[in-house]
Amino acid sequence: MDYRALAATIESLTDGETDQIALMATIACEVYHADPRFDWVGFYRVTEPELLKIGPYQGGHGCLVIPFSRGVCGACARSRAPQLVADVHAFPDHIACSSTTQSELVLPVFDASGALIAVFDIDSDQIDAFGDEDVGALTTILARVFEKA
Ligand code: SME
Repeated sequence: MDYRALAATIESLTDGETDQIALMATIACEVYHADPRFDWVGFYRVTEPELLKIGPYQGGHGCLVIPFSRGVCGACARSRAPQLVADVHAFPDHIACSSTTQSELVLPVFDASGALIAVFDIDSDQIDAFGDEDVGALTTILARVFEKA
């Protein structure tokens, strides 16, 4: 996976844009198409306290609303920390939007003030598809785009 190329593409496509939905749509598209491991890629936005609502995504349908108390996405929002789930069937509170999903990575998304604005969710039909390189590279991409002053 060429994260250097992906980061450069996203950087050039989003340069000068500040609209969060436009940025999320562009990142969801670019990341989804960057690697065959990624079968669902999208954002859940913090739209009210303790609530995530579906944002721009690529792949099959995603559920529309996830409270902070539920699922891998909720665990990420609560902890404000990356959630790497190698086998979703071993994660008791996993919310199955697709029966083919085997592993999942969810990252927190912050704005320039440090507020949590969304979580970024990537699902794979492969077991144990994600590693530290994915966490690091995608965290850097999200920070560059959304934490711009
Ligand atoms: N699996 C997620 C829900 C979102 S869908 O996978 C798109 C979760 O448990 O939070």
